[in-house]
Amino acid sequence: MAKTKAPAKGKAKKSTAKPAATKIKVADSKITPQAPKAYAAVTVKDPKGQTWDLPVLKGTIGPDVVDVRKLYTEHGLFTYDPGYGSTGSTQSAITYIDGEEGVLMHRGYRIEELAEKSDFMEVCYLLLEGELPNAKQKKQFEKDITYHTMLHEQITRFFSGFRRDAHPMAVMVSVVGALSAFYHDSTDIHDPRQRMIASHRLIAKVPTIAAMAYKYSVGQPFIYPRNHLSYAENFLYMHFAVPAEDYEINPVVAKAMDRIFILHADHEQNASTSTVRIAGSSGANPFACIAAGIACLWGPAHGGANEAVLSMLREIGSKDRIPEFIKRAKSKDDNFRLMGFGHRVYKNYDPRASVMRQSCHEVLDALGKRDEPLLELAMELERIALEDDYFVSHKLFPNVDFYSGIILQAIGFPTSMFTVLFAVARTVGWVAQWKEMIEDPTQRIGRPRQLYTGYGERPYLPIEKRK
Ligand code: ACO
Repeated sequence: MAKTKAPAKGKAKKSTAKPAATKIKVADSKITPQAPKAYAAVTVKDPKGQTWDLPVLKGTIGPDVVDVRKLYTEHGLFTYDPGYGSTGSTQSAITYIDGEEGVLMHRGYRIEELAEKSDFMEVCYLLLEGELPNAKQKKQFEKDITYHTMLHEQITRFFSGFRRDAHPMAVMVSVVGALSAFYHDSTDIHDPRQRMIASHRLIAKVPTIAAMAYKYSVGQPFIYPRNHLSYAENFLYMHFAVPAEDYEINPVVAKAMDRIFILHADHEQNASTSTVRIAGSSGANPFACIAAGIACLWGPAHGGANEAVLSMLREIGSKDRIPEFIKRAKSKDDNFRLMGFGHRVYKNYDPRASVMRQSCHEVLDALGKRDEPLLELAMELERIALEDDYFVSHKLFPNVDFYSGIILQAIGFPTSMFTVLFAVARTVGWVAQWKEMIEDPTQRIGRPRQLYTGYGERPYLPIEKRK
């Protein structure tokens, strides 16, 4: 293949981490969404020397893509890209990431700016509707979400079927999936209004399910949502309130919670989002599709990393043991990886990690936990890793999960709830991506092909002739 545009490869050099907000200009602010345009072609040559042209498509910003849609029907070839490192699975106008520069934008707005100036409800609206809401739209949206937070009482019965020590992510997969049984007949995905109601229900009900999973695990009664509270306040209230006394919400903690939700709201075509899209591409019930996304998020290579970071920090235990763990992370003979480090897309500091790091300091200060030993350990681990040639040359930087666990622990969440919180925040991203897919007229069922490496045809052997 000729003329394909490879992403710029940075050279291995001492840390280029940018924990503070970067000032890189990635886009002309006048650029508005547009359908991709074919502007050129790459020439492909097959082993027989025959050549043909494949169109190249240009989006608004980011690398151009080679359009291989007709490669099989016209030329009998598949592409091969396990892990999809070079494959665009869809066109999307929701989220843009420049991994080389450490930039993340939703609908054109930088994540740092959204985290500082916006709130989660506004970001949800932005992801779903494409624009920031005006005051009236925001009020209506908040009302729509608030009035869907309660669960059908029958759903509460599901929890008692679980052991008390069930992992809350297992409970989430099951109970969110079970919502499909309650809203199946009323969810016609081809009706825009029903799609919207399903989206609102998911954003509203997933936090209630998360809180119930927590309450069940600690043996406390479920706390029902309160409509006068904000999304983040309500989330804290449903987790930490008990019927025996009033619960006072710490505004610093509620603000931090809201920011954590913003930072996790969407992240382009990651593993769980692609799972939701693939599940939804068959026309499946959206509540079941989101359950599929939750299942995918659970793994330690994805959303499960925040839980794994805390386990790792506890295992390291003290600063003097950091070199030993850095050595293990670098060894080819050891499966150990530095959790919360590295990312498929970011080859620079994850911009969400910068905000999270700052939030971490603010929350610990506000809670009087500034001398939290795990924070000191995490900062020292980050410092040592960012000066290490292996991490520098592999472009491994802290990701969003590196600091989030420390904040969540300080707020009072047990480690097992960390990935659940990620799922609560990411629900809006999954829903927005699912909705975009259903509304895309070019959408087809997701069905990848393969490079077959098994036997060719062979005759069936009767059992007595088998070795
Ligand atoms: N510690 C040590 N080495 C690492 C790490 C790490 N955390 N991450 C990647 N590497 C090394 C690999 O060993 C490999 O080295 P090699 O080329 O010398 O063999 C190289 O970096 C590339 O790694 P891949 O696994 O090929 O990168 P990939 O893009 O497939 O994986 C991933 C990305 C899964 C995030 C990986 O960096 C990782 O496992 N990180 C730890 C888990 C984690 O923090 N996940 C959260 C991601 S963010 C999120 O989902 C919200």
